Amino acid sequence: MVVRKAVIPAAGLGTRFLPITKAMPKEMLPIIDRPVIQYVVEEAIASGIDDLIIITGRNKRAIEDYFDDSPELEMHLRGKNNDKMLKVVQDVSSLIDIHYIRQKEPRGLGDAILKAEKHIGNEPFAVLLGDDIIVDTVPCTGQLIDVFNRTNGSVIAVNEVPPENVSSYGIIQSHVINPSLHQVEDIVEKPRIEEAPSLLGAMGRYVLTSGIFECLEEVPPGVGGEVQLTDAIKSLCKREPVYAFHFNGRRYDTGDRFGYVQAIIDFALSNEEIGEKMRGHLLRAINEKSLNWPSVQGALRCTSNFE
Ligand code: UTP
Repeated sequence: MVVRKAVIPAAGLGTRFLPITKAMPKEMLPIIDRPVIQYVVEEAIASGIDDLIIITGRNKRAIEDYFDDSPELEMHLRGKNNDKMLKVVQDVSSLIDIHYIRQKEPRGLGDAILKAEKHIGNEPFAVLLGDDIIVDTVPCTGQLIDVFNRTNGSVIAVNEVPPENVSSYGIIQSHVINPSLHQVEDIVEKPRIEEAPSLLGAMGRYVLTSGIFECLEEVPPGVGGEVQLTDAIKSLCKREPVYAFHFNGRRYDTGDRFGYVQAIIDFALSNEEIGEKMRGHLLRAINEKSLNWPSVQGALRCTSNFE
């Protein structure tokens, strides 16, 4: 069966990114001039997906508005003969048709994916976490789809995790087929380092068979009272083959403050327009201590007083 549908869960509360996520979805945080979720949507399209579902929740209207037409803005830009920006704006809304499903309560990633069951039916489908950007020469989801086409089994994207970080990931126990392909024997959500079966963690991209829905319905809420996708994959790999693909690309967890800043810096450095200036600024800031620290700290004090 061909993988042509994808689910992007984007209904989480983003508590690691408060206070900005009080009023703004973390998936809409900008990487220079476009939101994180646009990179995720573009990866799905570049991987051959033509039917996209975004799982949203309360306070996530900005995502729908962003991918929608904006007639007033377009009229304004047309009136000013600003064809360049008109194209930029129209390109976003014409990327792909998107279906939205609401997750009424953020009951976990597994619960979010379960909301898409009716739309997916019996087909295999991709899952791309809405706050993870993966940069690779070939889109990561496309590589997972290739593995699915060869194996007919579900596939998880994995990568090595530093030992001190295993307690933040779903960690696999696996049997090595070749250096980039493993068969998953077990997966544990956020283990302590002494209980981790390996250092290979799930990295926000999956291709799953529809068998996952039955597993999601059966698993009781796990860590944090949430329905965990990891727990459902744990039961799926007891019923049918599940593979792990060790990808080479670079992944940014933009739901984490450090991961987000890393993404901005790396994208800015490779941006045609501002890359050189950014490089110069970073070097000066690090080597010459030229940043005016008192005023930066002063600005921070103002915002915290305001809060
Ligand atoms: P995260 O665990 O990173 O999101 O989920 P979170 O719960 O918003 O994070 P923190 O810990 O509170 O900061 C990964 C992806 O799954 C979505 C999120 O929006 C994110 O894109 N998600 C998570 C849902 O759609 N629903 C949920 O109930 C939980």
